[in-house]
Amino acid sequence: MKEKILKLLRQTDDYISGQDLCEHLGVSRTAVWKAVNALKAEGYQIEAVQNKGYRLTGVPDVLTEEEIGSHLDTSWAGCRVEAYERISYSTNLRAKELAGRGAAHGTLVVADVQEGGKGRRGREWVVPPAGTNIAMSLLLRPSLAPSQASMLTLVAALAVRKGIQEITGLEARIKWPNDVIFGRKKVCGILTEMTLEEGEIQCVIVGIGINVNNESFSGDLEEKATSLAMEGGRNYSRAALVAAVMKAFETYYAELLADGDLRNLTAEYNSCLTARNETVCIMAPDGVWEGTSRGINAGGALLVEHADGQIEEIVSGEVSVRGIYGYV
Ligand code: BTN
Repeated sequence: MKEKILKLLRQTDDYISGQDLCEHLGVSRTAVWKAVNALKAEGYQIEAVQNKGYRLTGVPDVLTEEEIGSHLDTSWAGCRVEAYERISYSTNLRAKELAGRGAAHGTLVVADVQEGGKGRRGREWVVPPAGTNIAMSLLLRPSLAPSQASMLTLVAALAVRKGIQEITGLEARIKWPNDVIFGRKKVCGILTEMTLEEGEIQCVIVGIGINVNNESFSGDLEEKATSLAMEGGRNYSRAALVAAVMKAFETYYAELLADGDLRNLTAEYNSCLTARNETVCIMAPDGVWEGTSRGINAGGALLVEHADGQIEEIVSGEVSVRGIYGYV
């Protein structure tokens, strides 16, 4: 009910009468009044004026089920939201647990503070201060072969970039396969994990960590990380961003499922790919070499041109691609 009230209040800048709220929700005036008071206690500013009704004038930056749900405008992504103020382990792991219990395609686990965040290549994903970042994991049950699953990671990067653009107006870029960056600094990391059953995908968990309202980073991260607030000079609603990323994810995912590959997304992906047509350094288990990045193909592989003009397809996995001057 709180989520529905927030959604209705958000639909207009004007007042919405108590009577209208009751009719939309099919509940009594007292029930509406109680729910409005509960929202106020959570930090929402809701003006109540006699003969006019209710108006939303201030919203706390919280990652609750109600706040996220009231922004969501999707058909399946985030169909169920499990939100944590603090999770002692990883949202990816929690989503995997839910998948094992039969949770639906589109289930979303979100945490304000994630204490056991996992990064790629066995690294940890550092715990930022409460109220600043997004840690979320989307459970998917795609009808794809396991060999196609890595493309979901590229889809997620596109969705994060689009969500950021919609909420902040900022233009992020992508470092193949799935880091979202500004300049030489990372604003979002994505960890995609797949569970197989008898050779078929049982579920894929797409874990997304976004630095949203951090004012600064210290230590090692100072040179490598940035946040949306640092780029845009103001704070942003994390719940609105979660919803925008989910909306964009649905669109890109539909393209992938329809074609079975990224043929309709390669142009967009390549247009925001960093270091395209520049020299990159390929760090593979069997050696390090340099070539010119030519963008991705429909399978999501990075095409890198050797000095003799020969093109090599780099598939994500053990390989790391860097600019010749460092991370980007
Ligand atoms: C990377 O190394 O760049 C990937 C980082 C992925 C972090 C996110 S935060 C939400 C989800 N839960 C995790 O434990 N990891 C991912």
